Amino acid sequence: MGKFQMAPDAIPVEKIPVKTLSNGVKIPAIGLGTFGSDHASGTLVADTVRDALRLGYRYIDCAAAYGNEHEVGAALREALDEGLPREELFVLSKLWNDKHDPEAAVAACKKSIEDLQVGYLDAYLIHWPFPNYHAPGCDGDARNPDSRPYIQEEFMATWHALEKLVDEGLIRALGVSNVTIPKLELILRDARIQPVINEMELHPCFQQGELYQYCVDHGVLPIAFCPLGSPDRPERDKTAEDVADMELPVMKEIAAAHGVHPALICLKWANQRGQLPIPMTTKRKNALSNLKSILEDPLTIEEMEKIKALECNNRLIKGQVFLWPGAKSWLDLWDLDGTIPGWNGYGEA
Ligand SMILES: NC(=O)c1ccc[n+]([C@@H]2O[C@H](COP(=O)([O-])OP(=O)(O)OC[C@H]3O[C@@H](n4cnc5c(N)ncnc54)[C@H](OP(=O)(O)O)[C@@H]3O)[C@@H](O)[C@H]2O)c1
Repeated sequence: MGKFQMAPDAIPVEKIPVKTLSNGVKIPAIGLGTFGSDHASGTLVADTVRDALRLGYRYIDCAAAYGNEHEVGAALREALDEGLPREELFVLSKLWNDKHDPEAAVAACKKSIEDLQVGYLDAYLIHWPFPNYHAPGCDGDARNPDSRPYIQEEFMATWHALEKLVDEGLIRALGVSNVTIPKLELILRDARIQPVINEMELHPCFQQGELYQYCVDHGVLPIAFCPLGSPDRPERDKTAEDVADMELPVMKEIAAAHGVHPALICLKWANQRGQLPIPMTTKRKNALSNLKSILEDPLTIEEMEKIKALECNNRLIKGQVFLWPGAKSWLDLWDLDGTIPGWNGYGEA
């Protein structure tokens, strides 16, 4: 086997900082998002992955729900066949909401491994804590009568099935995504193998201070999705009140002081705060500058403080299509008063 050819302008992989998950597994401090949503085809996302690997990215953030794992997998396989060592890669995938069931979860995880062509996953997350189905690309008002709220016993049955896949060597680290403190407390209490990642929405206008700190205090690494404020998120996730992080005067001012695009200020802030950002891009140039952003020209303490003050509780991915019959609004998904709506605490909805 030959040696994997890096691009002439690549960042040497040994220069990319790594974090250590609380189970000892290492993860690069920045990843590449692959959610093409309704604006980037699987082919385009896979081409970006091809470029990104040659530029120095090693963590690729995938999910069955993105509908492009087989295309991303072809890009990963080419790199591996060309000599990229498998152990250099960190491939993360996620279990979708319609596979919350021990048998279905095992089959879904194996399918992601097969599609991604990587032999095992470095991390596998339960994408959302709610079992439901909605058609890809549906609009924001779509509801499915079979949608169900969070039910601890059911969630843990799926979790325990995934723990067995860790035992079998198919998954190196387990994690959750879109969970709150009340849910995380229960999962940490009942898991045999602890979650070591919570992939959560984090950007300057939505900093989730309390949950962020809870994760850090419990050995759960916060991975930041929508780190740039996801300007190209699906239409169903856009509301008139949403604030565009990169358009804020403070962000533009700090960006001008550093001579860069506000996107890179979002990433520097994320990295310096301690979360692990996974920006998505379809452009090689942006992929490279995003990767470089965490290596050079850090923000000052004053700039970090200015960005901290931008917090305005602006959740972008509200999750309303996952609501179950009887739920009042998307706020019910987020346990705002410290209890879990829709679940009576005794194994029933
Ligand atoms: N766990 C979950 O439930 C969940 C939910 C949402 C997302 N995610 C993950 O998080 C990843 C990132 O979130 P996201 O894709 O929603 O949003 P994002 O990373 O916040 O924003 C991506 C957008 O920013 C633009 N961009 C990227 N780099 C840029 C740069 N240097 N300068 C200017 N613009 C730039 C991209 O456009 P160009 O293509 O033009 O560069 C793209 O439109 C996803 O891809 C996915 O892997 C997970």
